[in-house]
Amino acid sequence: MKLQQRTKHITKSIFFILLSLLLINCANEEKTTPKTNAVDDKIEARINEILAKMTLEEKIGQTNLRGTSSRVEGQLPEELKTAVRNGEIGAFLNVMNLDYVKELQKIAVEESPNGIPLIFARDVIHGFKTLFPIPLGLAASWDAETARVSSEIAAFEASSAGIRWTFAPMLDIARDSRWGRIAESPGEDPYLASILGKAYVEGFQSNDLSSPTSMAACAKHFIGYGAAIGGRDYNTVNLSEPLLRNIYLPPFKSAIDAGAATVMSSFNEVNGIPVTGNEFLLKDVLRGELNFDGFVVSDWDSTVEMIAHGFARDEKHAGELSAIAGLDMEMSSEAYENHLKKLIEEGKVTEAQLDEFAKNIVRIKLRLNLFENPYIPKDHTGNLYAEAHLAEAKKAAIKSTVLLKNESILPLKETTKVAVIGPMANKPHEQLGTWSFDGERTHTNTPTIAFEKANVNFQFVEGLTYSRDKTTKGFGEAIRAAKNADVILFFGGEEAILSGEAHSRANIDLPGAQVELLKELAKTGKPIVLVIMAGRPITITNIIDDVDAVLMAWHPGTMGGEALREIIFGISEPQGRLPVSWPKTAGQLPYFYNHKNTGRPAEADQFTQMDSIPIGVWQSSLGNDSHYLDIGYTPHFPFGYGLSYTEFKYENVAVSNDTINFNKELTITASITNTGKRDGTELVQLYVQDVVGSITRPIRELKRFEHIHLKSGETKEVTFKISSEDLKFVNHKLIDAAEEGKFNVWVGPNAAQGLESSFYLKE
Ligand code: NOJ
Repeated sequence: MKLQQRTKHITKSIFFILLSLLLINCANEEKTTPKTNAVDDKIEARINEILAKMTLEEKIGQTNLRGTSSRVEGQLPEELKTAVRNGEIGAFLNVMNLDYVKELQKIAVEESPNGIPLIFARDVIHGFKTLFPIPLGLAASWDAETARVSSEIAAFEASSAGIRWTFAPMLDIARDSRWGRIAESPGEDPYLASILGKAYVEGFQSNDLSSPTSMAACAKHFIGYGAAIGGRDYNTVNLSEPLLRNIYLPPFKSAIDAGAATVMSSFNEVNGIPVTGNEFLLKDVLRGELNFDGFVVSDWDSTVEMIAHGFARDEKHAGELSAIAGLDMEMSSEAYENHLKKLIEEGKVTEAQLDEFAKNIVRIKLRLNLFENPYIPKDHTGNLYAEAHLAEAKKAAIKSTVLLKNESILPLKETTKVAVIGPMANKPHEQLGTWSFDGERTHTNTPTIAFEKANVNFQFVEGLTYSRDKTTKGFGEAIRAAKNADVILFFGGEEAILSGEAHSRANIDLPGAQVELLKELAKTGKPIVLVIMAGRPITITNIIDDVDAVLMAWHPGTMGGEALREIIFGISEPQGRLPVSWPKTAGQLPYFYNHKNTGRPAEADQFTQMDSIPIGVWQSSLGNDSHYLDIGYTPHFPFGYGLSYTEFKYENVAVSNDTINFNKELTITASITNTGKRDGTELVQLYVQDVVGSITRPIRELKRFEHIHLKSGETKEVTFKISSEDLKFVNHKLIDAAEEGKFNVWVGPNAAQGLESSFYLKE
């Protein structure tokens, strides 16, 4: 080859290498950064074209989300069809009859004035037919991929029923286990919730909203819904702006950055103004700061509930307040339908505002490609309950299960003779948890079904017929079965109906006579493994000493039985870690690991448990700290906690620099060794404390985490990188910045342990 030719050849090769690198890069970016919310000039032009043809009435029609009860299988009256024909309805909720879906869409597309397609919505929260663990369980996996895959499968299945819009993910930070909706939440930490929020959106929207197998996500409930006083659903919320911005807002920002098509305004008020009528939150924060360009839907009736809140005088006023605040679509109630036209005529709401609503809604319909592709593709069956879907549901349940206690009893040997007892051992419906409208009991794999299939040596005696059962008539038989066995497996917890919306509890102990039965079983002297299926942490200080092991399975979904069998018999390891602090008692709530230090932080040497206080003692200083005299100041199990079937040792934590400046990265390393006999997976967590701030800072904040798999005896070095970006917070002057000073860091297995180091941030 001549020199000139060779140079040409090399130049050409370099060009192709660079081109492939560029393409690989773009492909990677494509994977991690969905472009579903990027401004698309063609779509914007099309919106303007469509809008120019719409009458005022049709624009109002787009703002109308007509709700039907989740239990109704259809039964659509003639007047609904007429309303669609006239362009008076923009979307439907809970139409579950395929013929009706098709018929209504056909009327909208072919007979309504501008042929604008409808969107069909449903609460597909943790699966459609194949149900995954409840969202709090999925959060315990601390795994974005698990969240993404679960929502991708949910979208695939649900879109085959015409559902192209789900009311998920719920991204409300939850610090109070009494609150029933903690079941649907990503837990108490904004960093973990942000990672999960992004993953859910990417899964539901398939990274490509125009695909007919995707669903538009809805980041809800904007905002502060989880901060309801006393964990009472729908209750009053007071949030300082730093609290709002540092704790409650980040998951929403993350979901919106990932392209979340819609946002739901929450039921609650924030600082006296219900969110549905809150211009500051919906316009300044959501549109202005978070650059959200999809549409905002109210929660069910939350417009007209502003009357009960004492904020709106009547339905018309509720409509006016919502419109001024920037609410695009109204769910179920009819304040817009009945009054928006008049409000515009009276000059109380501008037509330009209504145009914005219609544009935002049409934008999402265009992104969903509904104008080109309004119907369910003929060959799209959803592969309901496909083997692959069930396998992912099982994997997710394994990754979500948290081992809270283990006195060397788990895993059980294959030959162990077990007595399976308890009200959740074979409850196909209950183990599916909240929001499981579509999952059929006949497809649920319960523990007893899984045990039977695998020929486990077991005898099943329920003892209690349901979780709230207070009768003791089944105790005798259960005790007899226990005496006959090597180990008692007690499947207890809460039925599905005891958590979820409006299902808060003031006492979160095991309900009914479960504790009583467990105490009776303990008298047999047989080891007890307590498996909890519940929608929230259950307080178990009253029973923990009577049992040998505790597994928290949450409501594990369709494949919960098989997942638990694999864990119990050691085929799989429990991999979950707590996404919320586990309280000792409800009286300790709200409790969260990232609290402030106070001027008198609680300390062990300052704490005298009340039973040790001398009788008649002088009013003295028995440790004037921030603690409870009876239960102290720590949770039962800290945030991030979870045992494994092996042990891990943390050593040699080190920071790359004692001091970093604002544009430098800090590397934190630690080595972790599997000191046990089994291979195992550990979740290594990195926490930071900003020691002094312009406003007081939490005692620890989660900044990074990583799963590592270690063979028995193996050591790995874990490396985390952070920069001043990770140290930013919003202060009382609403300045969003990192501040100079000292920072403590911990690398550890949960929020209460870890090896400590520190560094300084300087200009
Ligand atoms: C009320 C709930 O708060 C919300 O999360 C849900 O999406 C709607 N109802 C629709 O079912």
